[in-house]
Amino acid sequence: MRVAHLAAPDDFDGWRHAARALAMERVPADRVIWQVAGHADDLFADGGNEPPVPAAPDAAFRVPRAFVDLARDVVLHSDRQRFAMLYAMLVRLIDQPRLIDDRADPLRRKLDEMAKAVRRDIHKMRAFLRFREVTDDGGERFVAWFEPDHHIVRANAAFFVNRFNTMGWSILTPEVSLHWDGGTLCEGPGATAADAPDGDPVEAVWKTYYASIFNPARLKVGAMLREMPRKYWKNMPETALVGELIAGARARETAMIETARASTGGNIDAAWAALKQEAAGCTRCSLHRMATQTVFGEGPLDARLMFVGEQPGDQEDQAGRPFVGPAGQLFDRALADAGIDRSTAYVTNAVKHFKFEPRGKRRIHAKPDAGEIEACRWWIEQERMLLTPRLTVALGATAARSLIGRTVTISRERGRVFSLPDGSDGFVTVHPSFLLRIEDGERAATEYRRFVEDLSAIKTFVAR
Ligand code: URA
Repeated sequence: MRVAHLAAPDDFDGWRHAARALAMERVPADRVIWQVAGHADDLFADGGNEPPVPAAPDAAFRVPRAFVDLARDVVLHSDRQRFAMLYAMLVRLIDQPRLIDDRADPLRRKLDEMAKAVRRDIHKMRAFLRFREVTDDGGERFVAWFEPDHHIVRANAAFFVNRFNTMGWSILTPEVSLHWDGGTLCEGPGATAADAPDGDPVEAVWKTYYASIFNPARLKVGAMLREMPRKYWKNMPETALVGELIAGARARETAMIETARASTGGNIDAAWAALKQEAAGCTRCSLHRMATQTVFGEGPLDARLMFVGEQPGDQEDQAGRPFVGPAGQLFDRALADAGIDRSTAYVTNAVKHFKFEPRGKRRIHAKPDAGEIEACRWWIEQERMLLTPRLTVALGATAARSLIGRTVTISRERGRVFSLPDGSDGFVTVHPSFLLRIEDGERAATEYRRFVEDLSAIKTFVAR
């Protein structure tokens, strides 16, 4: 028997290192004990005598990206056998990488269900956690008690820092407590319900929550924190840096938040209108200097389906509406062929200003770069947060990069529903402009058919 030691119940990195090392030695799944520090009963098998698993060598084998994403979620599940099940899957994937797409495989299906349960729990914590105000020696503070079903608290920390970063708060849960003082996130031991105050949630906190939706700085900080390895969270220098960023941004944005707060009053139509108005004055990157106007998303705010394109083209820039030019017309035709009524979907772009190079009187489309996509990501995140679509569809590589946060190969990722970083469902397909650029008639027809097939799959998924 081999023993793999994990630092915490949500220790994904620990699991990954150990699993990689074990798999490279071809250790069978039933010869490994997964032991979580401080959780003696997290053993899934009886103890063994062999030495612990050594650190993984750097030169590791490759597994499908989708498995890594799946494992990241499954590790947070409360099932004690999660590490063992994931390792069993990993061992099989080495010889059969296509297994990742086999939804009929019982283990693959089980892992999928576990990942979904984790994502639901993450969402539940975001939606249902309520802060209560307390006053102690340190002044005013907000405390919330929450009992998650799974080990999701740390995975959700960045979200709460994002949303409530101007106030001091503590989130108490049975397993761990999180404490934010407006600049530093610390972790403490688990608590009990008795440690949290009784009483009604504080209205002012929810106003702050709402206003925070309009603060561009927060999302950036959140993203930073998400990408920062967990071991650094408790580490003063790094988290102090986060605090400084917030402090710097706060002064600049106070006025904007106040305007948003006053104008919206918690109503989604008003919030969307305020967001669109803010975006109209966006100067987050230099593209606003050349473009005619910001082209914001459009469509019903209760749409189950959100399409995200690259950026407005020449005609969109003038009309102030997304997908009305040649690519938009092809998109409309393909939607109709797939049986999707465009008026039921919300359509927007990853980048909201037209980027072009002037050539005589013509304006030639230029691809937005990573910095421009990143700068504009704030708007698309706000649109998604307000609308909470059932499925967000990236049309092409720019949209995929914006939604997923990294470069993706469309041909590899297209055609299947997968989890976006926030746990919601996403789908990637080609951009309609790609179809317009194909010169060979036969190939163009084939690719158009494939695009319609993707749209049909999307339709089926959101109809479920
Ligand atoms: N291409 C896009 O990506 N979006 C538009 O709105 C128009 C063309």
